[in-house]
Amino acid sequence: MRIVTSPAAMQRLARQWRRRGARVGLVPTMGYLHQGHLSLVRAVRRRIGLEGKVVVSIYVNPTQFGPKEDLSRYPRDLKRDLRLCRAEGVDVVFVPDDAEMYPGGNPKSEIRNPKSFSTYVVEEKLSQGMEGASRPTHFRGVTTVVAKLFNLVLPDVAVFGAKDFQQAAVVKRMVRDLNFPVKIVVAPTVREPDGVAMSSRNKYLTGELRPQARVLWRSLQLARKLAATAGQTVPANRVKARIRQLLNGCPNARLDYVEFFDPETLLPVTKVQRGTQMALAVFVGKTRLIDNAQL
Ligand code: PAJ
Repeated sequence: MRIVTSPAAMQRLARQWRRRGARVGLVPTMGYLHQGHLSLVRAVRRRIGLEGKVVVSIYVNPTQFGPKEDLSRYPRDLKRDLRLCRAEGVDVVFVPDDAEMYPGGNPKSEIRNPKSFSTYVVEEKLSQGMEGASRPTHFRGVTTVVAKLFNLVLPDVAVFGAKDFQQAAVVKRMVRDLNFPVKIVVAPTVREPDGVAMSSRNKYLTGELRPQARVLWRSLQLARKLAATAGQTVPANRVKARIRQLLNGCPNARLDYVEFFDPETLLPVTKVQRGTQMALAVFVGKTRLIDNAQL
């Protein structure tokens, strides 16, 4: 397994692979890997075969974090990540150097450098609601870094997790709209035995907070039950009220949003039924968690 830190070297290697006819698969991550990430690695290997080249990128991308978010304390453990990647048969771990990804320093910093990074990719429809409403420049950072990773790794296939449903939808839209020659695959959410979706941010949930994180899973289950028992449809507002009630019984949880929407357009629906997509964001203590499911 090779570790590449220079974006230029990564692109050279990818072009070499492609000249030789090898298929390339990419799993973009921010590291602190867990079984959810590793399930994406297996999914990409299945798609490109044993002869193909699997690249996992590990990069805590500054442009997708808001000024008051957890960029500086985002969990990191590169040694462990590399061990896990090696065990999965990853060909290259791409750990791009910050200064080379964003020339002139973090473009969000106060210091004005006229030569610094100044080009972004912006999706303007699917990225407006939910995560986009709560985290205004988040998706601009995601689409920009994912576009850069596609240009550096030149993948045939890239795998994203359904855990970040809106992110996957935004990336698919970007790929369609800008004609990136890459197939986007979305792999199912991997959960802990108690239903909590695996996430690097679960590390923040110490002591009594961890069991309270189950409230997202319980909310999804509650909505599922209400949608199933009603037979036809239930007003979205009624389901939202029941979820707020459930969250009120959880001392350290605070609802950011809960939405019911069409899985293609991400537009909100007023009636909930089986097949409706649901997503929610909840602060558990100071940690913001998200989850989603098709009911
Ligand atoms: P990160 O949060 O590290 O997630 C990397 C990939 O793993 C994403 O596609 C995410 O949806 C997927 N993933 C996370 N938890 C999962 C779980 N429990 N089950 C299945 N898949 C899961 O998402 C990002 O990083 C970044 O925004 C990135 C796309 C790398 C751009 O910086």
